[in-house]
Amino acid sequence: MPDQRWDRLWVDVNVATMTDASLGVIEAGAVASADERIAWVGPEAEIGERRRETAAEVIRCGGAWLTPGLIDCHTHIVYAGDRTEDFRRRLRGESYARIARAGGGIMSTVRATRAASTEELTRSAVSRARELSAWGVTTIEVKSGYGLDRATELRMLDVAAALPRHLAVDVSPTLLAAHAVPPEYAGRRGDYVEMAVREILPAALEQGHAKAVDVFCEDIAFTADEARRVLDTGIASGLHGRLHADQLSDQGGGTLAADVGARSADHLEYLSRGGVEAMARADVCAVLLPGAAYTLGADRRPPVSTLRRAGVTMALATDANPGSSPITHVGLVLNLACIRFGMTPEEALLGFTAAAGKVLGLQADRGTIEVGKRADFAAWDVDDLSWLCYPVGPSPLKFLVKDGVPVESAEERVEG
Ligand code: NIG
Ligand code: FE
Repeated sequence: MPDQRWDRLWVDVNVATMTDASLGVIEAGAVASADERIAWVGPEAEIGERRRETAAEVIRCGGAWLTPGLIDCHTHIVYAGDRTEDFRRRLRGESYARIARAGGGIMSTVRATRAASTEELTRSAVSRARELSAWGVTTIEVKSGYGLDRATELRMLDVAAALPRHLAVDVSPTLLAAHAVPPEYAGRRGDYVEMAVREILPAALEQGHAKAVDVFCEDIAFTADEARRVLDTGIASGLHGRLHADQLSDQGGGTLAADVGARSADHLEYLSRGGVEAMARADVCAVLLPGAAYTLGADRRPPVSTLRRAGVTMALATDANPGSSPITHVGLVLNLACIRFGMTPEEALLGFTAAAGKVLGLQADRGTIEVGKRADFAAWDVDDLSWLCYPVGPSPLKFLVKDGVPVESAEERVEG
């Protein structure tokens, strides 16, 4: 049988495959793509002349490092307005929780988002997605949660799902109707939860964009029982479960995520030892969000060494949102993960690739450089991959490949 033809072959590159929970380094490596997938990966010296000639295009990378396209598995990039007012209040010493209770915080973004046109929401979300893409991100999870009514929640999911028409990125939308209690349900939190479960969730399922359901479980948001109700219903309907858990206080969020069979519990500054054990037993991933801890001046950090010892998969994400993490700088998040959370550079990089793919249930397709997976990768102009975690500077991205196509040429194909 003749060799399969390769569309592209990248050579003179060091490959970090991110397989087997390690960087999986192949120095002086090469990667080939065919039909949007990875067709070959290994040491360049093992390709053989005849095989090399089947490649329609050979790209020399000048010794760059190649990683899988990064996966940002927790973002809120669809929203309108900004939170400079909250920022100033926090600088004067008011807490995030106090501002939220006084009708600022998430609620001010809800007002702006409800009032914004779909075009406005799209324009700003595309520009935030481009900022992530400049950091090598090829897959983004995007949450609703600034609508809190059926129409606006669905509109947010629509805007998220349409992002791939504007740039070379894949999106995994998440329904976060239980993010806050909207003003029209003031004092009737339970009624809002029922409405979210009986009206917004079925409408989102019918719309078909959402892959996951998420809840903000916190004393300024929803109780563990309310979170359980939303997650149980969403998971029973076929969605993945996610949970904003134990961020500002210990709500038993890690244990709850394990009980309901969620894929991840996110934030986790107040995660208890019992919560770590429950997550380890149920294989719930921890999604760590150092950008939010930094922005809010959190006085605690997630129990990274306990999570590590327990063998819990640790993912990392920007949590890009206007309030608690106005950050699309992946390099800053990697840096904070190492310096503030005590992760190693290897763990941080795995957190944005293989681990994040697992959080989104996309591990069969993304997050590692292996034959058969989507040919999404980022080439970095660095001598050592730890550099990605070290200076807080401009992105050292050299080029990006999405579905086997260099991103500039892919961008020409997508609608403007
Ligand atoms: O992940 N914690 C709740 N949700 C977001 C914050 C959203 C906001 O403040 O607008 C978070 O930190
Ligand atoms: Fe969040």
